[in-house]
Order: sequence, then structure tokens, then C-alpha cells
Amino acid sequence: MRVLVINGPNLNLLGVRRPEVYGTTTLAELEERCRAWGAGLGIEVATFQSNHEGEIIDRLHSALGSADGVVLNPGALTHYSYALHDAIEAVALPVVEVHLSDTARREEWRARSVVSPACVATIRGHGVEGYREALEFLAERAGASSRGERE
Ligand code: DQA
Repeated sequence: MRVLVINGPNLNLLGVRRPEVYGTTTLAELEERCRAWGAGLGIEVATFQSNHEGEIIDRLHSALGSADGVVLNPGALTHYSYALHDAIEAVALPVVEVHLSDTARREEWRARSVVSPACVATIRGHGVEGYREALEFLAERAGASSRGERE
């Protein structure tokens, strides 16, 4: 199984940016952990970070055929990017939305996600562990669907 982990705008500053909200783990450390968690679950993890909406959409498009699922932290694009919503819908890959912080308990504008309806699950407020939970979710989902195909 191949999973693409995408981090959106400003997540390149993890570890430096508001550590009281987002923690002290850097993006490089987070990506390394994702690869290690993935290896334990039989998942080959590829990673991508961009501050640009169009680049994220292009990477999602190219995931079609090269990934079986996506873990996506869209950063602030979460709250307003209908283009990202439509890209997720268009590729029809299982996408798990992850947020380090609990977006429901911060500023009012963060409570709404326009991408959630296109995602198979949303995990928020669990810090970097949320990425592990997302990988586990995708592994379990893939296992369940392949068992279903055999039955
Ligand atoms: C975030 C939450 C967003 O509201 C914010 O814009 C981010 C990070 C999170 O991981 O908690 O950039 O997605």
C-alpha cells in the first residue's frame, strides 16, 4: 500500500511556528515518523509540503495511480479552498484530513472545514499522533475492503 502525506501552507515551519499550538516536532521529523509508522503498517509513505494551493492540487492529481490513499493537512486552505475540496473529490482516493490542533476549539473561522465532506475521515487535536492514526485508518480500511472483495 502507498500513502502520500501532504502538508499545506506554513507547515514547513513546524517546530518554530507557535509551538504551544502545533508542538515542537519539525516537519522533517514528522515526515520521518510517518515513514516509520508506515513501515510498521506495511505502507510505503511519500511526503510533500507546499505553501501553494495549485501545487498541492497538482500533487493530488499525480497521486492518482501512484498512491492508494492520502493523509492531508491542508493548513488554512482547510477553511476556504473549494478548489482543494474539488480536487479531493476528483481523484476519488481515500483522503484523511488531519489537523495538529483542535480547530473546533480555536477561532470561529477555523471550526469550518470546506474539505471535510470530500474526505473519508477527519482527525484533529491529536498533534503528530493524528498522522499515525490516519495511516492506521487507511491501512484498516484497505484491509477491510480487500477482505470484502474475497468474501
Ligand atoms: C492546522 C489548523 C489550521 O487552522 C491552520 O491554518 C494550520 C494548521 C492544524 O494542523 O492544526 O495551518 O491545519
